[in-house]
Amino acid sequence: MGNPEIHQHRHTVGQAERMRLKPHLPACLWFTGLSGSGKSTLANAVEQCLNRDYRAHTYLLDGDAIRMGLNSDLGFSLPDRAENIRRLGEVARLFMDAGLIVLTAFISPLREDRARARQIVNTGRFIEIHVDCPLEVCEQRDPKGLYRKARRGDLAEFTGISSPYEPPLGAELTLHTDREAPEDCTRQVIQYLIKEGILTDAAS
Ligand SMILES: Nc1ncnc2c1ncn2[C@@H]1O[C@H](COP(=O)(O)OP(=O)(O)O)[C@@H](O)[C@H]1O
Ligand SMILES: [Mg+2]
Repeated sequence: MGNPEIHQHRHTVGQAERMRLKPHLPACLWFTGLSGSGKSTLANAVEQCLNRDYRAHTYLLDGDAIRMGLNSDLGFSLPDRAENIRRLGEVARLFMDAGLIVLTAFISPLREDRARARQIVNTGRFIEIHVDCPLEVCEQRDPKGLYRKARRGDLAEFTGISSPYEPPLGAELTLHTDREAPEDCTRQVIQYLIKEGILTDAAS
């Protein structure tokens, strides 16, 4: 697309200059999974570990908070969900351009929408993390009481009940939160970042 009337100024300080200020590479950790699967819990735990043990400059974009602010004009229809994720991709791209490790915790139910976010970010450091947990377990946890509401018919277009969730086919990481403790899941993410050279092992 692109408006031919818009000419971008070339700035002197770019991503490379910002990256030199940080002990890590910019990256996007894209958590996807059903409501109650553990995206917010794990994104928060990973961010805490990155901040405390690796002095990493991070920012967590959490679905609920973003939907109250930047995306407060959007609902839960599939077109609105697509726009929600498109904007998230753009915001993640900006944060990476600023040199940060950005974590996103959104259901992001459709493969196509996640693929578009990956395209927008457009680096090899888009890390799709499938927070994999059976619907029955998420429904038992029901941390926000949303499944109960959806089953009663008081909540339309709820992922897993009345709106689809397409599990990733090629996620960089899959975390099984029904049988792996949060600490183990967090460790797997950190190990992955070290393996990919995004972080340097703090223990070494
Ligand atoms: N291994 C695990 N990883 C993450 N959360 C877990 C795990 N085991 C149990 N839980 C619980 O599951 C719930 C997940 O809720 P939340 O993180 O808000 O999910 P989401 O952000 O995906 O909707 C929390 O109550 C959390 O304590
Ligand atoms: Mg959440």
